[in-house]
Amino acid sequence: MADTSSSNLFKNWDYVYQNWDVFELPWVEKDIHPVLAQKIREFASAEGYALDIGCGLGQVSRHLASAGYKVYGIDASDRAINLAKGMTPEGLEIAYMVADSVRFVPEVKFDLVVDFLHLHDIQAKDLSVYIDTLLKISAVGATMITTSLSEKDPTATSTGERDSHFADCKVYYRSSKQITDLFFPYAKLISTEIINVGRGAESYLANLLVFRKTKILGQPPSGCLDTAPVVLP
Ligand SMILES: C[S@@+](CC[C@H](N)C(=O)[O-])C[C@H]1O[C@@H](n2cnc3c(N)ncnc32)[C@H](O)[C@@H]1O
Repeated sequence: MADTSSSNLFKNWDYVYQNWDVFELPWVEKDIHPVLAQKIREFASAEGYALDIGCGLGQVSRHLASAGYKVYGIDASDRAINLAKGMTPEGLEIAYMVADSVRFVPEVKFDLVVDFLHLHDIQAKDLSVYIDTLLKISAVGATMITTSLSEKDPTATSTGERDSHFADCKVYYRSSKQITDLFFPYAKLISTEIINVGRGAESYLANLLVFRKTKILGQPPSGCLDTAPVVLP
């Protein structure tokens, strides 16, 4: 069985960016997906802090910084982060860092969180901690976007998982309902769409979901009024 400890996953993902022609990786695109760009325009406020989680080479981070957000881009791979920094034009301020998305503790609360094709790489044992992290690091009212392989993709397995073709771990086909239930009752689904991602033999259907955070995690889900977001220690 694969070693899915964080340190091993970090090594695995770094190996991918060290050893593949990165521009051949099926998720690497020059520009962000047009449907993602449209959802950001439609549902986010174009100001404040934005997080590109599992940022890879940083195309989403650069898009968000150009749109006026103060952007953090985090990834498990040191090599990906260095490439992302190199691809970022001078004058575009982005705080890129190597960090574990599952247990990320930033010094700010985010108004927009974008997970583009990262959620399906979160191992089953880490999934609920990861969703709690997304909820803890975002402000009440924040827009949260997830995009991950759809259970409607023809390659989806009956168990909802398969071995990754890249890192030594599993990838998961998660339904909109499964993800929405994990966010409940702290964020509500406001948009859902199935999009085509990747290319060639690595083309897939993915669920692009937009959530609005409505309650602070930890607050009793009893209809109490939301209080102001706090800065993390
Ligand atoms: C399929 S790629 C998508 C990259 C990027 N979002 C894009 O669209 O180009 C998934 C990314 O998640 C990163 N990743 C995987 N596990 C991670 C973790 N626990 N913490 C941070 N990044 C992680 C990988 O290094 C990889 O860059």
